Amino acid sequence: MKETMSSPGHGHERGSEPIALPFPTMVASGASRAGTILRLLCFLTAGANMGGNALLMFAHEPLFRWLGLAQPADLYTFTSVLGFSFTSGVVALLIALRPAQAAPLLVVGMVGKGLFALVTMAFHLRSPLPWPWLAFGAWDAAFVGVFWLYLVHLSRPELLVLNRGAIVPGGDRPRTRKALLLSYSLSGNARAAVAHVEAGLRSNGYECTRVSVQPVERALFGFPFSSFWSFGRILVRAVLRRRAAIEPIDVAPDHDHDLIVIVGQTWMVGLAAPVEELFLDERTRGIFEGRDVAIINVSRGLWRRSQAMLASHVQAAGGHLIAASAHTNPGTEPFRTLSLFVFLAFGGKVPAWVPRWLRMPQSLEPWVQAQLEQLGERLALRSRVLLSAEVMARLGALDDRFARMPRRITEDTWETMVSPVVRPMAARGSGPEASA
Ligand SMILES: Cc1cc2nc3c(=O)[nH]c(=O)nc-3n(C[C@H](O)[C@H](O)[C@H](O)COP(=O)(O)O)c2cc1C
Repeated sequence: MKETMSSPGHGHERGSEPIALPFPTMVASGASRAGTILRLLCFLTAGANMGGNALLMFAHEPLFRWLGLAQPADLYTFTSVLGFSFTSGVVALLIALRPAQAAPLLVVGMVGKGLFALVTMAFHLRSPLPWPWLAFGAWDAAFVGVFWLYLVHLSRPELLVLNRGAIVPGGDRPRTRKALLLSYSLSGNARAAVAHVEAGLRSNGYECTRVSVQPVERALFGFPFSSFWSFGRILVRAVLRRRAAIEPIDVAPDHDHDLIVIVGQTWMVGLAAPVEELFLDERTRGIFEGRDVAIINVSRGLWRRSQAMLASHVQAAGGHLIAASAHTNPGTEPFRTLSLFVFLAFGGKVPAWVPRWLRMPQSLEPWVQAQLEQLGERLALRSRVLLSAEVMARLGALDDRFARMPRRITEDTWETMVSPVVRPMAARGSGPEASA
């Protein structure tokens, strides 16, 4: 599926003030274009499943006659299938109505629709089914993908805020004004992205150390590819999520950089293996602990999953995710994808005889480069935590309690939910305070 936003920070005016939110804010899903589209698709399948099955339940006889289909031989099985499909419509409706609580329902929806699609296919292979059942199976198979994308989208609501250009305060470690920039690059995009952020950081007084991640299997992960099979192997390994060992990097866990900028590219709708290895390898995982981390994603067009993966890894490794920005190659589909294949096949040097529509640039546009430089400038000026660590921890606990709170607010909500978190602070008279 094509992502709808070519660059999330795009709407962020050049030269505007950094938006410093006090802490990551949960925003309503659907607040972004992709969220709105996915939510509308959920309403669509809810209407189709509930309406269509209700209609079939009460009017299948005339409908089947009109379509020239045989009447169902076993009414009990027929009605059970309709009921099952109607229920999956109810699940979709609940997802669309309350996306913020929809993650478990999305998994239920994926299992239900996936099973229906598989069973339909299996029975069709045994003896061909009438076309309406095949259409229902195909519809449900497609919605396994839609639900999965929505799950990815909803699982990291803070990214919706960061993708709009917000830089949130990170940890309370002393500022050394030193940044560590990490990247791995096949064809140069990630390398270029990190160079522009570095330029911005340096222009506002940051000292930068750039580290290139080197896979141990250099021949395989080098560009231009040594053979067509190298590309195929990378693709297959990316699909199977095989790890790619990396050479040790010269950064100790107690390094004195207060900021880490890491760039990740998309490989087969996931994070590129050599970048992911930084978090999986015990020798490098520790370098993120307690540091402010900004993530940049580059891709042909699909960055949401790899961005969510990168963000999850940063947080699991103890980093403070403070900024995120994702960028795609220019051009429209399907020419952009075809051009990527041509670009990779020719090792980045596409001959002039190749038609223009297969030669779309596979590099970041100048305005994206300027945006990355501006991000670097803003990262160097980022605000500090304005609330003490205790207040932040209690706000986190409160947020957690609110997330678990029943929708109906009862009289004892304050006593059971809010008071235990807020009162100990109030008793000691601690209020918002500026950090050192
Ligand atoms: C093996 C491979 C798989 C890729 N898979 C995807 C993909 O699934 N989705 C996408 O949007 N881009 C995909 N891309 C494109 C890269 O993410 C994109 O070209 C990126 O800018 C490359 O950065 P780099 O040159 O710094 O390595 C793929 C590229 C390669 C080499």
